[in-house]
Amino acid sequence: MAYIIDGKKISAEIKDELREEVKELKAQGITGALAVIQVGCDPASSVYVRNKKRACEYIGIDSLSYELPESTSQEELLKLIGELNSKDSVKGILVQLPLPETIDEDAVIRAIDPAKDVDGFHPVNVGALLIGQKGYVSCTPAGIIQLLKRSGVAMEGKHCVVVGRSNIVGKPMSVLMLRENATVTITHSRTQNLPEVCRTADILIVAIGKREFIDASYVKEGAVVIDVGIHRDENNKLAGDVRFDEVEPLCKAITPVPGGVGPMTIAMLMYNCVEAMKN
Ligand code: GUN
Repeated sequence: MAYIIDGKKISAEIKDELREEVKELKAQGITGALAVIQVGCDPASSVYVRNKKRACEYIGIDSLSYELPESTSQEELLKLIGELNSKDSVKGILVQLPLPETIDEDAVIRAIDPAKDVDGFHPVNVGALLIGQKGYVSCTPAGIIQLLKRSGVAMEGKHCVVVGRSNIVGKPMSVLMLRENATVTITHSRTQNLPEVCRTADILIVAIGKREFIDASYVKEGAVVIDVGIHRDENNKLAGDVRFDEVEPLCKAITPVPGGVGPMTIAMLMYNCVEAMKN
């Protein structure tokens, strides 16, 4: 039986630590708000945005909500970001993705002041991560490092295979594992002999966005498996990128879906917001 890594519990611990820290900062007169921008009303985005605002409320930081219509132009969005960049009381700015197709996501990310980019998506923060300098780190991979550390999973010298090379998860994940002195392999849709490569992993991090893609043939006995995927089927049943029932008996430890990586993203967003308050 694998150890089930409890993301709900670990994210709650982190939020409680941050809540205490915010109390202390407020006692010193240090405050600040997170601006949350949503364009359009994609239902999944609305759920994420609501949860982010709730987390702000829980840890004690203000959130400013900007719910803009689907018809918002890129120019209007960039203008709002410019205003928030120059507002001292706004310490963090988050633009919920995806944006409508008429808006260039890259231009929007670049418009956010890197010092307020609590998502860690701005090229300045991505570059800082790569060369080991201070900056905001993308929340999902930062959350996975916390899951591993707080579950006692040693990374140093271990072979970590990351499946997926997205800018938000796969690429920053591989850099963070490298920072922890793991040996890292990044794999993707063009990787040859993917099951064979994955079977060499001591730590397998799966972020491919394909429901239950990873079966037992991809996993070495005794591996630690982190599942970043989240998919809802027609019966509303949630599953990850990993076939949990098949893979779990092989593993030393594994994250469930839901209740694994998911809750960590918001906890780490709150961590970045508190860092922004302190800066
Ligand atoms: N859409 C899906 N995940 C994220 C995230 O972490 N941040 C933002 N801004 N949008 C997202």
